[in-house]
Order: sequence, then C-alpha cells, then structure tokens
Amino acid sequence: MANVIGLMSKKGGAGKSTIVKLLSSAMAHAGHKCLVIDLDPNKDILTWWAVSKTNNLAEDNLIVRTVSPDRDLFDLIDEFDDKVKFIIIDTKGEGVDFGVDLASVADVLIIPCLNAKADIDRTKETISWHKDLKARAEDPSKIPPLHVVMSRVNPQLLTHVKGTPKPVGVGARELERHYEIIDQLKPLDIMVPEKRIYQEIEERGTLGMIIKEHGEKTDGPSKSKLRQFEAAMALAILLGNCIFEERKMSVTNGS
Ligand SMILES: Nc1ncnc2c1ncn2[C@@H]1O[C@H](COP(=O)(O)OP(=O)(O)O)[C@@H](O)[C@H]1O
Ligand SMILES: [Mg+2]
Repeated sequence: MANVIGLMSKKGGAGKSTIVKLLSSAMAHAGHKCLVIDLDPNKDILTWWAVSKTNNLAEDNLIVRTVSPDRDLFDLIDEFDDKVKFIIIDTKGEGVDFGVDLASVADVLIIPCLNAKADIDRTKETISWHKDLKARAEDPSKIPPLHVVMSRVNPQLLTHVKGTPKPVGVGARELERHYEIIDQLKPLDIMVPEKRIYQEIEERGTLGMIIKEHGEKTDGPSKSKLRQFEAAMALAILLGNCIFEERKMSVTNGS
C-alpha cells in the first residue's frame, strides 16, 4: 500500500506544486518509487516532468499522471497502490466538495500557508472544514490528519526567536502574522523559505538529478549553486520526515 499525501489550499500560488516537486524529487532520489497525480488543469507538475525529461534531469523512480474522464483519481490510485511507495496528489485551489474526495484517499493532507492575511484566513477555514469533517465522520480515525506548512517564508524569519527584536527588513505586521501562523495554525516543524533556487528546480528538473549534474562541474559558481541545491534537498528530506512523524513547531519565548 502506498503512502498518499494530498496537497490542498483554496488559493493558488501558496506553494503546493513547489512542495510536490521538492518531496517527489527527494523520495525518488532516495530510491522510492513515487507517483504524482496532477489534478491541476494547469498541469504544472506534468510540464515540469516533461521539462526534466527534455533536460535529461528526470528520475526513473518518478511517474506523473493526470486524470481523464475514463481514468479518475480513484482508478489511478487503484492502479498504482501496490506499485509505488508514495503517491502525491497536487491540486488547484479547490472547494470543499473536492476536499472530501481528497480526504477519502489520502493518508495525510498538507496545506501550505503564506504570510498574508488572506492566506491565513483561508487556512483557518480549511482547518475548521477538516474539524467538521472529522466530527461528522462515522469513524473519525479514517479522516487523515491535516498539517499546515509555512511556505515562502522570509529567510530572515527562519531563525528568528519569538520575543527578540524584529530583524531589519521584516515588517511589523509580517512578524506578527509569522507568529500568528505558528501559534494558531500549529504548522509542521519545517518552513519552506522563499528562495530563487526553487524556481530553478521548476525550470530544470528533479532536484537530485540537478545536484548530480552540478557535482560533475568544478568551476566556482557551480559549487555555490550546488550548495544551494543540496540545501534544498536537505530541506525536502526533512519536510518528508516531518510530515510522516507529524512533528509540529513549538515556540518558546522564555515565558
Ligand atoms: N519557496 C519558494 N521560494 C520561491 N519561489 C516560490 C516558492 N514557492 C513557490 N514559489 C513560486 O511561486 C509560484 C507559485 O508557486 P506554486 O508552487 O506553483 O504554487 P501553487 O501550486 O500553490 O499554485 C511559482 O512560480 C513558484 O516558483
Ligand atoms: Mg500548483
């Protein structure tokens, strides 16, 4: 039986597809067979997969499929359940009806949240929808857990300690919202920082293969790029572990 991770959020641009690329890259590179089901009509993941093949930067362990009228989400899961270790489902910003389907097939639901009021509000709505779903379920243990991942986090806030002065370049409201997410939405213990390197992954291919390609070059700029890609891989592995261990962030401010 495959482990099924479903990405959801009502808003586009929160970082769902980026997280799918990171996780699937890391899992496939570690030798695990991984299927990504791309349910977004924009077909972001399918395009990325095609680009990575063109660039010879695809992983053999990674397969991407989309649904069609005669092959829906449930058919795809049935087909691949015994053939892959992980199934990751990428979605577009969808409503509640779709969420019920996703919850019925996933082992865990992930919702990326940006540091913006609208995103925090939508995430809170999704958390209450999930609570409701659980409360109404005949067997609540069958409803997968929903975890928030802080996405596109200002790198200056990654190591900020609550109660210490605001870093220069971080707005007061931004800092306040950062801790509103941590205190109220109980996110997982890994934040995805805002970094240009993630856009390069999107344009080139799978992370592990990009690292391999850079490792074969020896010039200076390639070395510094290599370190950035390796850091992205380390984060992707930690994020995967965090999801399965359900490790939540905790904040101590000395009080
Ligand atoms: N952590 C990040 N750092 C920098 N850019 C990011 C990050 N996450 C997402 N992006 C960029 O933001 C845009 C939207 O992200 P995406 O993952 O496609 O969101 P979604 O799938 O939720 O709509 C993309 O162009 C992507 O490259
Ligand atoms: Mg997307």
